[in-house]
Amino acid sequence: MHQSMALSTATVICAISENDMIGICDSGVGGLTLLKDLHKRYPHTDIIYYGDEANMPYGDRSKEELKAIFAGIKAYFKARGCQDIVVACNTLCSAIDFNDDEIVIHDIIGKTIARLNVPKDKKVLVFATPFTIKSGRYQKGLEKRGYQSIGVALKSLAKDIEEGLPKQVVKAKLYQVFEMTDAKDIGAIILGCTHYPIYKDLFYEYYNVPVFDSLGLDFGIEDSDEKGEISLHMERSDKLERFLKRYIGVDYRYEDHLGK
Ligand code: DGL
Repeated sequence: MHQSMALSTATVICAISENDMIGICDSGVGGLTLLKDLHKRYPHTDIIYYGDEANMPYGDRSKEELKAIFAGIKAYFKARGCQDIVVACNTLCSAIDFNDDEIVIHDIIGKTIARLNVPKDKKVLVFATPFTIKSGRYQKGLEKRGYQSIGVALKSLAKDIEEGLPKQVVKAKLYQVFEMTDAKDIGAIILGCTHYPIYKDLFYEYYNVPVFDSLGLDFGIEDSDEKGEISLHMERSDKLERFLKRYIGVDYRYEDHLGK
């Protein structure tokens, strides 16, 4: 049985800015790694980050639940006047429909697969949430490009990162999975969850092959002229502040009723 699902009921209280605006979303802190990139790439565009911690982890949810969650997030971004949504979550990208008449919805999975530039004689090992692996999006996309792949679902890594588990504990849990995974002739790894790049070094250390992720992707969005601002639609907490300081390091403010 799934945990209950909180649909977005955020009331829009701020005036819509004149600047172009990008909405970026994930189940929690994972997509913040992409937020930093986006700000670097589009420094003159306002960016709103939607961290849906109330519904985290997405990786254990059903397709119907994920679609309903995204419908709420999309409505929120539309109400803010966003022109683009970057779906910084592989799990959502494996479940949702990207067509929309009013807003451009950017996928990260297709772009991450397109990045692979390693020889095709060895297999690609994909680590992602249970939903993403079950959806087969990476496996099918890689097959189209002529790569053989193995998908490995990591049941708790996103949540462990969210909860701030010490690195040594995360390492021990990950190594257990690595040792149990029957993976030979591996030529590359894909981190198919935006939480995982924080521990990219652990994957590299064990497998010693190139590790690909969704950081630094180009979405072909046009930058605007004014200085861009970053706002967070997330509940403020000491844990989040520490995380932002450590991994993000850009200026931001909190939005709506969530940012007290
Ligand atoms: N960071 C997300 C992803 O890329 C989701 C993790 C989760 O909530 O399970 O899939």
